[in-house]
Amino acid sequence: MKPKRIVLIGFMGSGKSSVGRIVAERLGWDFVDTDAFVEARAGARIAEIFRTSGEATFREWESRVIGELAARTRIVVATGGGAPTQPSLRSFFAGQDSTVVHLRVSLADALQRTGNHAGRPLLSQSEDAIRALYQGRQAIYEELGMPVETDGKTPLETAEQIMLLLGNPSH
Ligand code: S3P
Repeated sequence: MKPKRIVLIGFMGSGKSSVGRIVAERLGWDFVDTDAFVEARAGARIAEIFRTSGEATFREWESRVIGELAARTRIVVATGGGAPTQPSLRSFFAGQDSTVVHLRVSLADALQRTGNHAGRPLLSQSEDAIRALYQGRQAIYEELGMPVETDGKTPLETAEQIMLLLGNPSH
């Protein structure tokens, strides 16, 4: 399998950024975290965008930066947990240039890893709302990405599993 681009999807706390950075380093490819890219472009933190302009504005930014990344190859992309739910981004996640990996995580591990939830506005909701968000997202993650289990694993272990799964696409 020789993908032009590796895209990591999964719920908040699944480890997309930490794992993606390691995979990119192994491949000698660029690494982009779409949340960091949005923050750089918008000149504001994610939490601030949600607070001052609302989630819809954040989704517009997210869609814009991912649209830009669709033109790049030899890149590992860690996407925000909600990005795959945007219908306008379907071709990025389902297109043949992207190999999409779903970092599976239980809700318990996700919440443990995200700690105090700082910077993640969607985790500042009731437990029921977070559980509904988590459950509502699973079908789309499973549909779009090859599953890799992350519970109880370090980012390095998960990155190594992805490398095994993909072979070395840079060769
Ligand atoms: C979101 C996940 C966050 C960030 C934003 C919204 C979501 O990214 O994009 O807070 O909708 O799940 P991470 O998955 O990297 O935490």
